[in-house]
Amino acid sequence: MDRAESALSRLRTACSAEKGQETVQASPPLAPTHVGVGRTVAKIILFGEHSVVYGYPAIALPLRNLRMTARVTPTPGPSMLASLGWSGPLDQAPDRFSSIVRAVEATLDFIGRPDAHLSITTLSDFPAERGLGSSAAAAGAVIRAILDAFDVEADAEDLFELTQTAERVAHGHPSGLDATATSSATPIHFQSGQATPVQVNLATWIVVADSGVHGSTRETVGHVREQHERSPETTRPLLERLGEITQQAIADVQLGDVQGLGRKMNEAHALLAQLGVSDDHLDALTEAARAAGAVGAKLTGGGRGGCVIALADSAASAARITEALGAAGATGTWVYAPHAYEVAA
Ligand code: PMV
Repeated sequence: MDRAESALSRLRTACSAEKGQETVQASPPLAPTHVGVGRTVAKIILFGEHSVVYGYPAIALPLRNLRMTARVTPTPGPSMLASLGWSGPLDQAPDRFSSIVRAVEATLDFIGRPDAHLSITTLSDFPAERGLGSSAAAAGAVIRAILDAFDVEADAEDLFELTQTAERVAHGHPSGLDATATSSATPIHFQSGQATPVQVNLATWIVVADSGVHGSTRETVGHVREQHERSPETTRPLLERLGEITQQAIADVQLGDVQGLGRKMNEAHALLAQLGVSDDHLDALTEAARAAGAVGAKLTGGGRGGCVIALADSAASAARITEALGAAGATGTWVYAPHAYEVAA
């Protein structure tokens, strides 16, 4: 029995109640009784992408202004999906939606309604395949919307497992960082499947810039795995060093050492480039950010496309960095002032 099945069996047990001699089975309704809504958010990885897959720590910040919303309604015909400008029958959805399709199947199995016919839409404030966690956010939002439509409650562990089931289709061997960070209310320290909130005490602005290039996390994770298998003697030290930097960065984040954090971001970017997950666009954007005064800059997420993040020590500096990133080819930028990521909304 895999973990989604065991979650289902827990749900069934929870739905059974003893009433005198009689056992009453409380089941979810056959079809949704109201519109189901699920919400998640984008995330950035401050430190630890790729090395987190090998058990090293990571720090991630949910970006609560970049939301993913899913809506679910019953439909008489076959299940339908509308997402990222595509719409059609769920069973004919292109490959890029395979993790959403898996999320729907796993959630309907979880609630014991595998044959339910649903109309599902997702609406996102942020671009897909840019290292901002859109696949986990979409799966997480759809899972929550289905549960909401059927009035079924699930605990954090079940939600994580359902999202991971979908993420395995998207990424192969996801660490679980995205599944956790895209539904977290606080910045997190994540390691080996365990997340703990991190107190962020930074008087720093974070600029996120989109290279405009689609990244494939499945490919970059696969590339690092192959390299690790082929040349462990050169790959292992890079992952270990990323792990060390992240561990030290946790202290910097808590103590507010912006300069220390910036130096570590620059080193992390160089290590990720050595692992082969940067590209010319990401290198150019990080260099442009540093030249414009960033305290540090690195790629964030799977890499080879996607986004970079840069640290600025004032709002004016963040504005200069944003302009420089635009001039260097960024297709979109977002600036986070300290209060935007320090505390839960
Ligand atoms: O590119 P994203 O947002 O899916 O982030 C992937 C993070 C990795 O560490 C590269 C993979 C993982 O499973 O943690």
